Amino acid sequence: ALLFTSTVLESDEIPFLSSVIRKLGEPTIRVALEMGMGLFSDHFVLGETLDEARKKIKKERRKYRYSFDMLGEAALTVQDAKNFFEAYKKAILFAGGFPNAAVSIKLSALHPRYDVLQSERVLAELYPALNQLIGIAREQNTQITIDAEEANRLELSLRIFAKLIVDGNGKGFDKLGLAVQAYSKRAMAVLEYLSELAREQSQRICVRLVKGAYWDTEIKLAQMMGLSDFPVFTKKSHTDISYLACAKYLIKHADNLYPQFATHNVQTVASLLYWTEGRESMFEFQRLHGMGSILYDCLLDEDPDISCCIYAPIGQQKELLPYLIRRLLENSANSSFVNQLASTIPAEELSRHPIEVAASGVKTLHRPPELYLSRKNSAGLDPRHSLHRDFLVKALADYRDHRWGAGSQQVRSPIDGRLIGHVELTDATTIDRVMAQARVAATHWAALHGSARARLLRNLAEHLESNRIELIALLIAEAGKTIEDAIAEVREAVDFCRYYADQMDTFANAEILPGPIGERNQLSYEPRGVFVCISPWNFPVAIFTGQVAAALVTGNAVVAKPAEQTPLVAQLIAELALRAGIPANTLQVVTGAGETGAALVRHRDTDGVVFTGSVEVATHINRSLAARAGPILPLIAETGGQNAMIVDSSALPEQVVKDVLSSAFNS
Ligand code: FAD
Ligand code: 2OP
Repeated sequence: ALLFTSTVLESDEIPFLSSVIRKLGEPTIRVALEMGMGLFSDHFVLGETLDEARKKIKKERRKYRYSFDMLGEAALTVQDAKNFFEAYKKAILFAGGFPNAAVSIKLSALHPRYDVLQSERVLAELYPALNQLIGIAREQNTQITIDAEEANRLELSLRIFAKLIVDGNGKGFDKLGLAVQAYSKRAMAVLEYLSELAREQSQRICVRLVKGAYWDTEIKLAQMMGLSDFPVFTKKSHTDISYLACAKYLIKHADNLYPQFATHNVQTVASLLYWTEGRESMFEFQRLHGMGSILYDCLLDEDPDISCCIYAPIGQQKELLPYLIRRLLENSANSSFVNQLASTIPAEELSRHPIEVAASGVKTLHRPPELYLSRKNSAGLDPRHSLHRDFLVKALADYRDHRWGAGSQQVRSPIDGRLIGHVELTDATTIDRVMAQARVAATHWAALHGSARARLLRNLAEHLESNRIELIALLIAEAGKTIEDAIAEVREAVDFCRYYADQMDTFANAEILPGPIGERNQLSYEPRGVFVCISPWNFPVAIFTGQVAAALVTGNAVVAKPAEQTPLVAQLIAELALRAGIPANTLQVVTGAGETGAALVRHRDTDGVVFTGSVEVATHINRSLAARAGPILPLIAETGGQNAMIVDSSALPEQVVKDVLSSAFNS
């Protein structure tokens, strides 16, 4: 990290440190890294305490304004949130002692569940705390900016902001504002919304226009969630163009939106100065502490009408990491202006207009559906996005009184005990019939070319995807899943089908092996016959489908026994398989508890077993198979389910807590 940021810091100490790292051993590196962290802190943080900050500000001879940011975000406990609240309160009082100072607030610091899925709690608990801070700021005549964070928080932050202005302490307080991220595809819509809000309330809203600091996170989340597209632009020049377009909008609406242009990019700054020549006092520039100082020192010295505010983080090293990582990513990205400035790129190149750069056609990222290139990524839904959420809520409501399956046995929801369907439990004679049918089906199925089976499996993936709402509804009703877990599970099932289909394509055709003249050596794979697939309750769609898909695509007929808690969803998948063109009896579902599974394992027509569950049952199956006469049957068992998480001292404790909780309690 030190080596790669050395160009950024332009610090005398760095060459010394990097040579130390090269020459000396690990303990020294550790010390050096700690020193490096100290240097970074010094570089990007104004001070550890408000007092320290005051001393540093006194030394600055130029007329910068300051916006204090108390380091801290993503509170995980009520106590954390309370501490951050107190820190903000102190900062606001502190800022009151300076002419024209400001405070920046991250809403994620003020509540442990600042999440749109917890909107009601957030409005009942976070909002009053924030409103109180705004009240104090108003008394102190201190400007407040609400920072912009991850895209999935945007809608909730706007809701909170509007509430402050419409009926909170922000009403009529024209020093209240928020940051808007130009890399967001919704940036212009947000500005239009704010302008409308300002007009309706007859009050000015301050808008800090930034490009955005969470780009890597947004890209990763959209890929992980399998969204149809990214919420942010994927070409740097598009972000720059969006910034300029948003800036134009702000300049045009400067009567009710006060523009605060936060950028370190000289091209962007030059465009803004060109558009506002002679009217520089209608807006202000902002920069981060530790960045853009040469640019703004120079501008302030040249033109007394230009004003600039420094975003000045204050806090201890232990709160620094997330902020620091964003600064390091920002400074080290090849695309970043400050990074290019530090390299040998000529000024003409650096100052090219982004429209010109965009036209020169830089390669862009693959959208999340194309993430895996060769196979389609499974489609996700984001319950934190209002369009997706509204769609989900409405679509799921259609299944509220739905009854699945048929048979004499009632199935009730584990959540509220309501009747959700019926099944027929399988008895011994039924098992014989099912196995006999499977044997016949296996012969026809095996005769199909592997690629043809792969095609049918891909077709099943399509059917799972187009029926995902019903699967999600049933997962919630029958397995008590949360919406998010249910979405993830259906996606995993879809991925299994497509992944195994691709695998099958690679060994569908026989491979000719080298050998001596006169001999023909050929390697090909043959199906085994009838596979018994026994799956657990915790992933009744994903694990069920994974087992079945692998056995089917390799040419086996399958008799599947889902967990006794989740027979309905298994039957629904079997129905979808039929609709996808997988022939009748190739996949059959039998319902029952442990004895039914044991009977299938013992059955003479069984050619192999796939099992996911406890070590105890797997051992039992293993013994049962070993006791059979005839050929040795394969058992593919996945057992245990203990997640060992290894956490080292470099981990961010907040992240560890989140991961440990989800590992322990999801499902
Ligand atoms: P440039 O190098 O010109 O632009 C960097 C921008 O381009 C980044 O947004 C980056 O994500 C984007 N980018 C890089 N590669 C690509 C690509 N392939 N496709 C699309 N875009 C790409 N950020 C927040 O998120 N919330 C805040 O509340 C916030 N407050 C700030 C306050 C101040 C005073 C300042 C100065 C910055 C603040 N920032 C905030 C950080 C800000 O987002 C970054 O500093 C800013 O993006 C850097 O832009 P630039 O014009 O200086 O640099
Ligand atoms: C960040 O915290 C500056 O708000 C911006 O990265």
